[in-house]
Amino acid sequence: MKVALLTGGGDCPGLNPVIRGAVQTLTNAGHECVGLLEGWKGAIEGTSIPLSPAVTDSIIDKGGTILFSSRTNLFKDDATEAKNVPQLQASFKRLGIDALIAIGGDDTLGVARKLHEKYQLKTVGCPKTIDNDLCATDYTFGFDTALNICMEAIDRCRTTAESHRRIIVVETMGRHAGWIAAFAGIAGGADYILVPEEKVDIEKMCDVLKKRRAAGKMWGIVVVSEGIELPEGMVKKSGEVDSFGHVQLGGVGDTVAEIIKQKTDIPTRAVILGHMQRGGSPTAFDRVLGTRLGIHAGRLVVEQKWGQMVALRGMNIVNVSLAEATGENRTLYPEIMAEAHEFF
Ligand code: F6P
Repeated sequence: MKVALLTGGGDCPGLNPVIRGAVQTLTNAGHECVGLLEGWKGAIEGTSIPLSPAVTDSIIDKGGTILFSSRTNLFKDDATEAKNVPQLQASFKRLGIDALIAIGGDDTLGVARKLHEKYQLKTVGCPKTIDNDLCATDYTFGFDTALNICMEAIDRCRTTAESHRRIIVVETMGRHAGWIAAFAGIAGGADYILVPEEKVDIEKMCDVLKKRRAAGKMWGIVVVSEGIELPEGMVKKSGEVDSFGHVQLGGVGDTVAEIIKQKTDIPTRAVILGHMQRGGSPTAFDRVLGTRLGIHAGRLVVEQKWGQMVALRGMNIVNVSLAEATGENRTLYPEIMAEAHEFF
């Protein structure tokens, strides 16, 4: 078979180890691989590069994706679907592609699922997102790298906050879920954590911060997820909406810092980590998880288990259907915030 791979959505440390694992497994089994460039855009336009172990051998430590990425949505509306699907089918025919491994988050995998269910495309999926908010898998690769970047940033903010006797608000990514904020806050010893899963209680937070200062702790760290809802709504970076209908978030850290300053009179600054969290080399955990998922996605193709996705359950890689894997975001488990609340 000739097997295509594509990476869609926001980039994520660990994508290249997935590609490397899948290409090695498929080549070992006697199949040929190509990479489609820029996610579904490359699938529609038929822009591709040959992939072999020689190409993917040295990418284990490389951040981002050698296949590039985009948020192209084949199924944006009926007209897009009517135009894009025949184009994709024609491109696959021209390139001689028999099967596809789609590596992405909920949006990319949702497209893969529809192409399989409605158009019988031979496809398998591999879950990806730094946000860790995909159901059907225990952890997504990229999350651990993002978390460690946040933790290091918090550690650095702590020394400057301490020197200036200030509060620093650190804003993390996590559009629908507070996994990054909660884990980074716990790992960084935050004085308060705000996540989308909990109703924001500004008065309580300011009270905690004031009491700590009165008790002698003259500095503090507040971690806030970009997706929290303030009484006036979510803070959007711009009115920009992508082809899956997501608004661009970012900046709530500045608003929270301003509120804290006004309500507590404590000098406060904000740091927005933004895309720093998605960049750079993957951690060992993400390299191993990515490689294992890639190998198992390759095996799904070899076994012709179409419409399936690889997932981590405990220590094992298992198969789940794309239908089970998409459609609902996995929000932060309440027990984790209950544990975090022991400190505030
Ligand atoms: O992929 C998820 C995510 O990292 C979100 O946490 C964030 O809101 C979004 O991507 C940012 O996407 P973009 O790079 O398109 O601005």
